[in-house]
Amino acid sequence: MRVDLGGIRMKNPVTVASGTFGYGAEYAKLVDVTRLGAITVKGIRLQPWSGNPLPRHVEVPGGMVNAIGLQGPGVEGFARDYMPFLRTTGVPVIVNIWGTSEEEYAEVARRLSEVEGVSGLELNISCPNVKEGGNAFGTDPRAVSSLVATVRRATRLPLMPKLAPNVPDIKLFVRAAQEAGADALALINTLPAMVIDIETRRPILANKVGGLSGPAIHPVAVKLVWEAAQVARVPLLAMGGIVGPDEAIEFLIAGASAVAVGTANFIDPTTPLRVLEGIEAYLRRHGMNSVAALTGSLCMTNPATNVEP
Ligand SMILES: Cc1cc2nc3c(=O)[nH]c(=O)nc-3n(C[C@H](O)[C@H](O)[C@H](O)COP(=O)(O)O)c2cc1C
Repeated sequence: MRVDLGGIRMKNPVTVASGTFGYGAEYAKLVDVTRLGAITVKGIRLQPWSGNPLPRHVEVPGGMVNAIGLQGPGVEGFARDYMPFLRTTGVPVIVNIWGTSEEEYAEVARRLSEVEGVSGLELNISCPNVKEGGNAFGTDPRAVSSLVATVRRATRLPLMPKLAPNVPDIKLFVRAAQEAGADALALINTLPAMVIDIETRRPILANKVGGLSGPAIHPVAVKLVWEAAQVARVPLLAMGGIVGPDEAIEFLIAGASAVAVGTANFIDPTTPLRVLEGIEAYLRRHGMNSVAALTGSLCMTNPATNVEP
C-alpha cells in the first residue's frame, strides 16, 4: 500500500482533502488519524485570516457549496498551535498554502520549511493574484508556471500544486507546473458555483459565489485526472466526490497514485478509513500485490465490442 507522492512517503494512498479535516486534532476524537497515509491541513497563509462573512456554506443535492474564504491561523499560529499534535501522529503532514502574491506564497513555503514535521506543501493556486488584477493564478498557465518556479526556489520540501478544474485544457497546467519544478500534482479543487434563495431572491452565500464539492463533481474529477495522467511525469493525488472505496479506486485506475477524501468527512468521518480498507480488499480480490499496479490500469477497449478504439 506504500506510495511515494513526489517525496512524501505515505504508508498507504489515502489522505484527506484540505479544509475538510481541520488540522487533524479535531478529527482525532472521532477516528484513528494515525492510520491515514498523510494528513492534509486547511490552507495557511502568512498572517491569520478570518475568511468570509457567514453564511459561508450551503448543502445542495450531490454536495455542498462553500465560500469559507480560507480562514486560518497564519504560519506562526499553525506551527505553534497545531504542529505539536500533528508531530505525535507519526503521519506525514501536507500543509496546504496560499497567498495573494508570489512573494507571499514563497515566504510561507520558506517559513514552513523550517518547521519540524512538515512533509510537503500543497499549493492552492485557486486564489486571486492581487498584483495581476485579481485573476486566479490557477486559470492561467503562465501564472502557474511563474508561481511554482518562485515557490520552488524558496523550499526543498516536496511541492504539490493543486490544480483548478475550471480550465479548458488541464494538460497545459500539468505541463506548466511540472516544468516549473512540481514534485507531484493534486486535483481537483472545487468548481465555481452559486446558490439562490428563491423566496428572498438573494444569493445564499454572503460571498455570493463559492465552490462546489462532493459526489456531484466526482465524474468531472475522474475525467480531469485521466487527462492529467496522460502527460504527467509526476505522481497525482486525486480528489473530488469520494464517498467510499469505489470512487477512490476509480481515481487510481484513471492514473492517480493517491487519493484524498474531502466533503465526505462532514457526513462520515470514518470515510477515509473505509476507503483504505476497500482499496485493500479490491487489491486482494483482483490478485494485485501493490496499489501501484492499480495506478493507471484503465482498460481502453470498447465495452460492447471489446476492441481498442
Ligand atoms: C469546506 C471546504 C473547505 C475547503 N478548504 C480548502 C482549502 O483551504 N484549500 C484548498 O486547496 N482546498 C480546499 N477545499 C477543497 C477540497 O480540498 C477539495 O479539493 C474539494 O472539496 C474536492 O473534494 P471533495 O469533493 O471530496 O470535497 C475545501 C473544500 C471544502 C468543502
